[in-house]
Formats: sequence, C-alpha cells, structure tokens
Amino acid sequence: MTADLILRGGTVVDGTGAPAYRGDVAIRGGRITAVGAIDPCEGPELDVSGMVVCPGFIDLHAHSEFTLLADGRAWGKILQGVTTEVSGNCGLSAVPLLGEARRQRAEDLRDLGLTQTWEDFAGFARRLEDQGIAVNFCTLVGHGNLRASVMGYANRPPDGREMQEMSRLLEDALKAGAWGLSTGLIYLPGAYAETGEIMALARVARSHGGLYATHLRSEGDQLLEAITEAIRIGEEAGIRVQISHLKTAGDRNWRKLPDALRLIREARERGADVAADRYPYTAASTDLDAILPAWAYEGGRAAELARLKDPDTRARLTEEILASHPRRDDWERVLIASVRTEENRSLEGRTLAEAGALRGCPPWEALYELLLEEDLQAMGIFFSMSEENLREILRQPYLMIGSDSSARATDGPTRQGKPHPRTFGTFPRVLGRFVRNERLLPLELAVAMMTSRPAARLGLDDRGVVQEGKSADLVVFNPEAIRDRATYEDPYQAPEGIRHVFVNGSVVVRDGAPTGARPGRVLRKGG
Ligand code: ZN
Ligand code: CU
Repeated sequence: MTADLILRGGTVVDGTGAPAYRGDVAIRGGRITAVGAIDPCEGPELDVSGMVVCPGFIDLHAHSEFTLLADGRAWGKILQGVTTEVSGNCGLSAVPLLGEARRQRAEDLRDLGLTQTWEDFAGFARRLEDQGIAVNFCTLVGHGNLRASVMGYANRPPDGREMQEMSRLLEDALKAGAWGLSTGLIYLPGAYAETGEIMALARVARSHGGLYATHLRSEGDQLLEAITEAIRIGEEAGIRVQISHLKTAGDRNWRKLPDALRLIREARERGADVAADRYPYTAASTDLDAILPAWAYEGGRAAELARLKDPDTRARLTEEILASHPRRDDWERVLIASVRTEENRSLEGRTLAEAGALRGCPPWEALYELLLEEDLQAMGIFFSMSEENLREILRQPYLMIGSDSSARATDGPTRQGKPHPRTFGTFPRVLGRFVRNERLLPLELAVAMMTSRPAARLGLDDRGVVQEGKSADLVVFNPEAIRDRATYEDPYQAPEGIRHVFVNGSVVVRDGAPTGARPGRVLRKGG
C-alpha cells in the first residue's frame, strides 16, 4: 500500500460517537484510504501518539461568505479545527443579491475591500474557488436576500408575482448547489414576512431536499411562540428544521427553557425533524441597534436614522427601552464590538455604560449618538444568557455546535473591531471547558456534535466521520492541552492544543500554525 501520509499511533475519535480507539489513519489523493493498524509502507508518516485524530469540524452556523472572499486564509476557523463551514445563515447570504438587497450590502462589501461581480450562485462560487479558500464552503440561501432582491424593504406581504420570483431565485440557487433556506426573523426584511410566506419558500427548499435554518422571530420574550412557528413550518412544509443558536435571551426569559425544550422534544416525538445548534458562550453578538424596539427600523436605514435624530422620537425610544431594560446594570451588559469611524475606535471593547460616562450623558443617549455617527454600522456584544441554560442546551440529543461567526484572520481586511470570541474559540472551548474540565459531555459525543451530526443534518455524506473512502478532512489535537484563548477584550487569539488540520487531504495547520495552503472547495448539494 502506498499513502501520501500516515498519521501514526493516535487515538481515533471517529465522529460517530463510538468509543475512541488506538489506530493509524492513511490519506491518499485527498481521501482516507485506511483506518486501524496499518503496516509500515511507502510514504511519509506523522507521529501523532498522545493525540486525538478526528474528523474536521463542520461549523453548521457560519457567516463567512464575504470574509472568505476578502481573505481566503480563514485562520480563525482552521486554527480551531474547522474544515467545512455552512454560511448563508440568519437570512443573509451572498446570493441572490439583486436590486435593493445589492445596494444595502454594498457598504458591508466595501468595508472588506470587495465589489460585487457575481450574479448568481455559480458566479459567486467561481470567484471563491478562483481566489482559493483554506476551508470548504457550503451555503444556505438567505430569505432576507430573496425578499430584498425582489421587493426591497417593503413592510407588506409579497403579491403573487413577487412570491413567484422569490421562489424562482431560491430554486435557481438550490439547483446550483445551495443546501437550503435560512431566515432571520428579527432582522429586516425578514421580520416583515408572515408564516405563510416562509412556508411557501420552505416547500421549495424541501422539494430539493434542503434544510430550513432559522434565527427565530424571538429568542426571549416571545421565544415559545417563535419555536412553535418554526416547528409548524417544519411539519406543514415537511422540511428539516434547524433552530439557530438556541437560547433564552434576557434573564426574565431564562425560566422558559424547560418549556422550549419540551416543545422541541414533543415535535420530535411526533416525527418532526427539528434540531438546533449553539455556540458555547453566554453573550450574543449582532448589530448594536438591535437594542431598539422593532418599529425603530421600519422603512429602512434612512428612516431609522431620521428617528434617531428627532427629539420626540428619541424620548419615545428611551421610554420603551427603559421599560424593557429598567436596571442600571443592563447598560453594563452591552459591549461595543466594532465601529466604522476612527473617531470612535477607542470605544471598541467598552460598555454602553462606559460610553455614557465618557460622553457625560446617559448610556442611551450615547447609544443614539454613536448609531448616528456610525451610520448604524456598529456591532454589539450582549451578555444576555444563562450559563446553566447553556449547559442544559448542550446536553440535548439533537444539538450541534455552530459558531455563528465569520472566518477572520489576525491581520488583513477581516481584522476589524473586537468580534465575539467565538470567532476564534468555539470548538476548542467545547472540548477544553465542557468536555475535559467540566465533564459535561463525553469526548466522543462532543466530537459527534461537531462532525457527523452536522454532516447528517446537511446531507453531506462524504464528510464528518473517519472512515475509509471519506474525504480526508481531519483534526489532530491534544485532549489535555486543548483550550480557547480568545476573550471579549482580546478576541484575536488562536486556541491551544490543535496540532494539525487537513482539508481534502492537504495540511492547512501544521504544529499549530497555518501553512498557507488553500485546498478548500465550494461544496454543492448533489454535486
Ligand atoms: Zn442569528
Ligand atoms: Cu447567525
């Protein structure tokens, strides 16, 4: 037998959840060619004794479509052991991106030094592949893209023609290789969609075997209603439902967890295919203006800015915000993660309470001013979740790990602001903190939650397990040393303990450092 490489003497955690065993793994031509006790043979060997050898991690919840295009090195992901990312989540994807949708995202693209040259999935995929990527890329189709491409940011149901056009755009992307549909029902224009509209699109996705992933309409005050809506879409459209970043947001909603889990459990018992993903942190990250009540975004960016400028509307905003966040320390639980202007750079990493103190005004006034100065382009980190609930969520039999982050590097165009530490820390944090230190999850199970479970969820049958014939996406890590190092203050820190990472048989991380190789592919459903 000849091999390109033999990983010799490691402990194989094969991704299925089966008990770990001592074994060698041979790679050839981008595939795993043998697993077990392999005789000495031709070809180079790598001593991995004392290390775990497992499938590359599949990050089921990523937002990398644009950062990967800006910088294909994807250090934040490969240094964690991620070998495949699923982007296009929360209603936002690279395609379709037409009309109003295109205009709205142009600024995000510009911030990364990008211009839109693609018209459809094939064009986007070609551009990614031409420039080279270190990880494999899958995408869902964002409902926000479909809606804004066809009907802009109008707050009304689509008419018959618009519905048809959305369905057609979705179908085109699915035929070209997208893996399903995603919604972001707190964002615009997703929030304008009624259940029936999503149902109709979910049926289109279903007819192509796609997945439906949803950022629920509410993760806090209306959490149970929102889960019920997602399950209903799943049952009536007959589609697999993925609840994105399952959580109970806001301490007054923490007590809802048992009911939330019961809704999911009962749906599964009825035969509905509902599952969820989660990142191992208790802070969320999204646009800073997510603090504002929903009516504040009505009509789009210009209307929102006008409201923030108007003293009467501001007073009304303050009244509502203070009613739902009455405590002084609520303002200490929101960090300013990133801004666009140099003038406000020093606020990155500070709380809104601090921003208020620095400006000599109440924190809400500081928030409004900041949003105006930044043209709404500011990100926040929100400490809104319960640690205990996180543990309970991680233990659900249908749970997978998803980082909810974009691929970034420690330098170059994707180093911007202070993103959530999940960007560099998610997978090692689960393995170090929740597997080794707290013994919340057995190692084999945690690895399955990062590999075979998301692969099966997506229908990616070539990956997610260490088995002969599968694509050679592999991680070699030290189970005693693995830990995340990224923090809210200093998020651009690679984890420890990930030794080697292989994507399609090529080494992208060797001895803990990126090699510069870009063997990643755009993975197409059915392709
Ligand atoms: Zn989301
Ligand atoms: Cu997301």
